[in-house]
Amino acid sequence: MDIILNLNAKSYSSDEVLVVAAYSKAGKQKKDPAQLVNSHWSSDLKEAFSAINAAATFTGTAGTKFLFPLASGEMVLAWGLGEKSKLSSESLRKESAKIYSLVSSGHAEAALQLDGFTLKGNLEKTVGIISEAVGMTAYSYDKHKSKKSPCKFKKLFLDSSAAKSKAKKLQAVLDAKKNLTDSIAIARDFVNDPPNIQSSVYYAKEVEKDAKKLKRVKVKILGKPELKKEKMGMFLSVNAGSGFDPRLVHLTYTPAKVTKKTKHVALVGKGLVFDTGGYSLKPAAAMAGMKFDMAGSATVYAAFRAAVLNNAPVKISCFLGMTDNAVNSFATMPDSIVTARNGKTVEVLNTDAEGRLVLGDVLDYACDQKPDCIIDAATLTGAVLIALGTEVCGLMGNDKKLRDNLMKSAAATDEYMWQLPIIEEWRDDMKSNIADLKNIGGSRWGGSAKAAAFLENFVKDDISWAHLDIAGCAGDQGHLPYCPKKGASGLVVRSLEHFIQNA
Ligand code: BES
Ligand code: MN
Ligand code: ZN
Repeated sequence: MDIILNLNAKSYSSDEVLVVAAYSKAGKQKKDPAQLVNSHWSSDLKEAFSAINAAATFTGTAGTKFLFPLASGEMVLAWGLGEKSKLSSESLRKESAKIYSLVSSGHAEAALQLDGFTLKGNLEKTVGIISEAVGMTAYSYDKHKSKKSPCKFKKLFLDSSAAKSKAKKLQAVLDAKKNLTDSIAIARDFVNDPPNIQSSVYYAKEVEKDAKKLKRVKVKILGKPELKKEKMGMFLSVNAGSGFDPRLVHLTYTPAKVTKKTKHVALVGKGLVFDTGGYSLKPAAAMAGMKFDMAGSATVYAAFRAAVLNNAPVKISCFLGMTDNAVNSFATMPDSIVTARNGKTVEVLNTDAEGRLVLGDVLDYACDQKPDCIIDAATLTGAVLIALGTEVCGLMGNDKKLRDNLMKSAAATDEYMWQLPIIEEWRDDMKSNIADLKNIGGSRWGGSAKAAAFLENFVKDDISWAHLDIAGCAGDQGHLPYCPKKGASGLVVRSLEHFIQNA
């Protein structure tokens, strides 16, 4: 599907469907009905509309729509957006997604009359939001369906009266958003791919294949012998019961221009292609769905990919720790004591708290690159769903400024993110009687931040670090019309890409 800009538009770009915005104006008194605001419609639309008796019932209220034909043959879809002053970037994103879903289900093309949709007079932002919403909504995961129903929708025109001189800037916005939503689609595919196909070995190869197409990116992949050489005892302990070798994918992007001031952002992702829990086996109902336990790695990879394609002005290192957490006679037994890459000893009391073991060693490895900051993303704890629900990403870390900047990026992209504290008591709770640390706390309470308190031990003191627990928001987000009803959401990629671009 292509999104095509048509500036200085004198006619409609499609003769199939025209989409126009409609706003409402609240009546002065309570008894007054809302009134349609359609002053931005062209005169032929107004004429055709007012000739229809039933049109009088359409007032542009949010959540309503009105379909009517033009004498010239086009169908007009008037989309109610409510009061114009109340239109926010997120409501425009949601409405654009709904418009796309409706129009793409029955047509091959449509022409959206952009001028009516302009958010606070900012055409660039409007084009960005609409194209992002459409790109995210157009995703489907059907590679395993024997009968595919390919989408017949091919072209979305954006018609605007804006001068042609704006074309270059607006096209750049469209291109950047396409890079972003294509990357989100790749992340969703990785997360949705089943574990019998997507082993750690396969996953690493797929990422390598994709990353090799990116300019100024180097790919390095560490396997079992390399992880042994690196003394990643925690990571290896998670992989001990697996039929597949672990993989640590290390990607490096160097921007075209590098000066002494060029920032270096490191991303770390949990890539558990399946989490059975190990000997601390998950009950069946909790185990199903654990193919999504690699969503952290897919999320940071997508943000890396989008930032690279959009020529981010910063150096980016990206580390993906891949394995499954399985059980065989070599699997790590609870009560085991393992040694981390940084030399700390860890009592593994619960083999289902495996993500922190993988991440700990990868965080320490990332510190060797001396980045200005490290951000990790992981489906780390069920506790984050208890704390923040299934919609909100948990944010923790050792540096207030970094956390604040991530919160700003989340706000700028309309993603939900909220901070949890790491307190001294929880740091203490992660200490073991017989080793330096243990991998679970003494109680379930505060489980997400206790996991973060554990991770903190593997980040060198002088490095800013933030941890994103995406266990809630990585999966089904049926409430968001630009996310699939079921399956990987692709959320948090937008926050991370925004953060990188503004680092
Ligand atoms: N991958 C899970 C976290 C998870 C659980 C994500 C439920 C989504 C839904 C993680 O590896 C895990 O099992 N964590 C344990 C930690 C506990 C043993 C301290 C958990 O949250 O139950
Ligand atoms: Mn687990
Ligand atoms: Zn896990």
